[in-house]
Amino acid sequence: MKRSLFFVVVIALLAGVTLLTAEQKDLMEKKTRHAENIFRALALGDLKLVSSEAKALDEITVEAGFDDRPKKYAGYGREFLKSVRSLKKQADLGNLAGSYYEFTRMTGYCFSCHEHIRDDG
Ligand code: HEC
Repeated sequence: MKRSLFFVVVIALLAGVTLLTAEQKDLMEKKTRHAENIFRALALGDLKLVSSEAKALDEITVEAGFDDRPKKYAGYGREFLKSVRSLKKQADLGNLAGSYYEFTRMTGYCFSCHEHIRDDG
């Protein structure tokens, strides 16, 4: 009886971990799609689309709650979010050069956060 209870707990924990990873993957999948859309919209000079895609990216990042994560990780999340908001601002101002710049900064945070996660194993 005790033994089967132990297995139930282990399976529940494993299911929880898998679910979390799947959720994170799904989120990153969405992030990648929005980032691609922004890239394409910038190439076309469609700043309205850049603005709405940046807004979507902002919202899903807030949902992810990076602030609950370890300090360094949350730091990258915050910087990422700041750059997404600056990008939206530049797009709303109709500033194409400023939007190019902020987009480049934003993608830099995608990479630095991933690199940091990999370093921590
Ligand atoms: C604050 C940290 C952070 C930022 C910023 C961030 N990511 Fe991620 N990313 C993660 C984490 C955590 C994972 C999951 C890593 C793992 O479990 O191996 C991940 C995984 C991914 C994956 C792999 C998903 C899969 O199916 O395995 C992709 C693609 C990805 N991110 C794209 C992006 C893009 C594009 C951006 C920027 C627009 C971005 N990420 C910004 C933390 C971040």
